[in-house]
Amino acid sequence: MSDAADFAALPKLELHLHHEGAAPPEFIRRLAGEKKVDLGGIFDERGHYAYEDFWHFLKVYEAATEVLKTPEDYARLTTAVLEESAASGVIYTETFLSPDFCGGRDLGAWKEYLHAIREAADKAERDMGIVMRGVVTCIRHFGPDKAKETALCAAETHGDWITGFGIAGDEKASNPKDFAWSFDMCREAGLQLTAHAGEWGGPQSIKDALDDLKVTRIGHGVRAIEDLELVDRLAEEGIVLEVCPGSNVALGLYPNTQCHPIEMLRERGVKLTVSTDDPPFFHSTMAKEYEALHRAFGWDEEIFGQIAQTALDAAFCDAATKEKLAKRLEIRA
Ligand code: ADE
Ligand code: ZN
Repeated sequence: MSDAADFAALPKLELHLHHEGAAPPEFIRRLAGEKKVDLGGIFDERGHYAYEDFWHFLKVYEAATEVLKTPEDYARLTTAVLEESAASGVIYTETFLSPDFCGGRDLGAWKEYLHAIREAADKAERDMGIVMRGVVTCIRHFGPDKAKETALCAAETHGDWITGFGIAGDEKASNPKDFAWSFDMCREAGLQLTAHAGEWGGPQSIKDALDDLKVTRIGHGVRAIEDLELVDRLAEEGIVLEVCPGSNVALGLYPNTQCHPIEMLRERGVKLTVSTDDPPFFHSTMAKEYEALHRAFGWDEEIFGQIAQTALDAAFCDAATKEKLAKRLEIRA
C-alpha cells in the first residue's frame, strides 16, 4: 500500500461528516452564481475556502450556507457530497444534518429538506453503493433554546434513517449541561447520541459530555490524551471517538499527523474511528486521511480493517443495514 489509489480501494465507514462542511467550494460558487449571491471573501485566490482559525472557519462555514436555501439545493449538495465520499472508498457515511440550516428549525420545512436529502441519498446508494444515514446536530453557539427546537425536529423525524442526535459548533460557547434537556428528550425518542468535545475544550469537556449528555460517542475527543485516567475510562466504558486527524492538523490543534495523539489513544485501548469532518475545508478526503495515517504510523490494511469494524459496531444504523455492510467488509478481507 503506497499510493492514493490503494487507500481509496479500502472500504471505509465515516461517522463524522458535516453535510454543509463537505460542500465542494466549486459547488457553493456555482449555486452563488445561479442565485446571484455575493459570498464576499470566503475563498482564496485558488478557489479554496479561506479562514484564519477555528472561529473564523465557523463563520466561513455559515456564510457558505447562505446559498443553500431550498430542499432542491440540499438534494444537489447530497449528490455532490456522496460522489466525493464514494470516490474515496466510503461505503457508509453518517452525516451531520442541522435543521438550523435546513429550514430554520421549522418542523414542516425540515421534513421537506429531509425528504429531498433522502431521495438524493437513495439514488446515490442505487448508483454508487454508498449508504447514508443522518445524525441531527444542534449548534452549540446558537444556544440551548434553539437546540431544543432542533432536538424536537430530530425526535419527530427519528427512525431508520435519522438515527442520532449530536452537538457541534463552538465548544467554548456554553456548557454541555445546558443542552441536557435536548439530549434527554432525543434519547427517550430512541435516538443514539454523540457530542463534539475534546477538540477545543480540554479533558473536562469530554467528561462533561459523558456525564451530562450521556453520549456513547465523542466527536474528536482527542484531548483526552492530556488526562490518562480519562483515556482509561474511555477504553473501559467502550466510548468511541470519531477522530478527524486532518481537521485537527488543518485547524492548528497539532502541527502534523505524527504529533497527533490518535496512535497513543489506540495503543492505550480506546475505540477509534477515522473521519474527515469538513473535507474540502481541510484539503482532505477519506483516502488522504488513510494515506497520512499510513505514512505517520505505518497503519496497514489490518489496522484499517479494525478501524472499519469499530465504525461498523458504533454506527447508529439498524442491524439489517450493519449486516449488509459487514458482508461488504468481509468480501474485502
Ligand atoms: N462544525 C463543523 N466542523 C466542526 C468542528 N470541527 N468542530 C465543531 N463544530 C464544527
Ligand atoms: Zn465535526
